[in-house]
Amino acid sequence: MTTIREFLLDDLFKFNRIAFDPLVEVYSLQFVFPKIIEHPELVLSVVAPDDQLMGFILGCRIVDAEGTIADEKDLGSSHGHISSLAVAHDYRRLGLATLLLENLRAKMNHSNDWFMDLFVRAKNEHAIRLYESLGYVKYRWLPQFYADDHGYDMRLPLSRDVERKSLEGITINKLYSFGNMLLYLVMMYLIGLRDLFFGDIFREN
Ligand SMILES: CC(C)(COP(=O)(O)OP(=O)(O)OC[C@H]1O[C@@H](n2cnc3c(N)ncnc32)[C@H](O)[C@@H]1OP(=O)(O)O)[C@@H](O)C(=O)NCCC(=O)NCCS
Repeated sequence: MTTIREFLLDDLFKFNRIAFDPLVEVYSLQFVFPKIIEHPELVLSVVAPDDQLMGFILGCRIVDAEGTIADEKDLGSSHGHISSLAVAHDYRRLGLATLLLENLRAKMNHSNDWFMDLFVRAKNEHAIRLYESLGYVKYRWLPQFYADDHGYDMRLPLSRDVERKSLEGITINKLYSFGNMLLYLVMMYLIGLRDLFFGDIFREN
């Protein structure tokens, strides 16, 4: 039977077969340890009966300095964030990522957070499909967010956010993203032209 439980430090020794997928976000121990210590209930593993690690999720809560729930004027200072999510190849398409994400959503609802968010590579279509199937929306396009790709900031309004205020500004963001994308394409085009006509000069220098 599959079990969902808090991530144990011991799981770090079982981690490699999952983490070697280039789409998995891997962080340093200095980043991960404080998250496990501060919010152990938001860093979860799914394990097989033989305790093999099938997947994990690294979640955290972003709260204001006093650690209180923000008022409506400042939604961003009280929200859940997902830093990393991964399922081992052998166990994909079995609903494990959904299980992890929904478990976290329930906990963040319980903490009275406004919304959950995460960053995802623009090329990671499978993950985007997963998130959209659970109600997340692309809130912002993030040009060159990753060294080798653009990204999206995706958001899921939680139960507290009945009026979906956490998605306000999404239209402006879309226009801004569209402008950014056009600018990026024009720049790439100009760089291409430069290399085509003046490539030899630059190479000689
Ligand atoms: C993305 C990932 C976490 C999905 O895990 P998973 O346990 O296979 O996902 P689920 O079984 O819960 O999938 C739920 C839904 O998401 C979508 N989905 C997930 N993986 C998909 C795939 N490979 N192809 C198409 N759709 C996919 C489907 O809609 C799926 O529902 P369905 O199986 O009923 O069609 C997993 O593929 C993974 O670890 N990828 C590498 C790391 C990664 O990309 N992490 C996210 C970084 S932001």
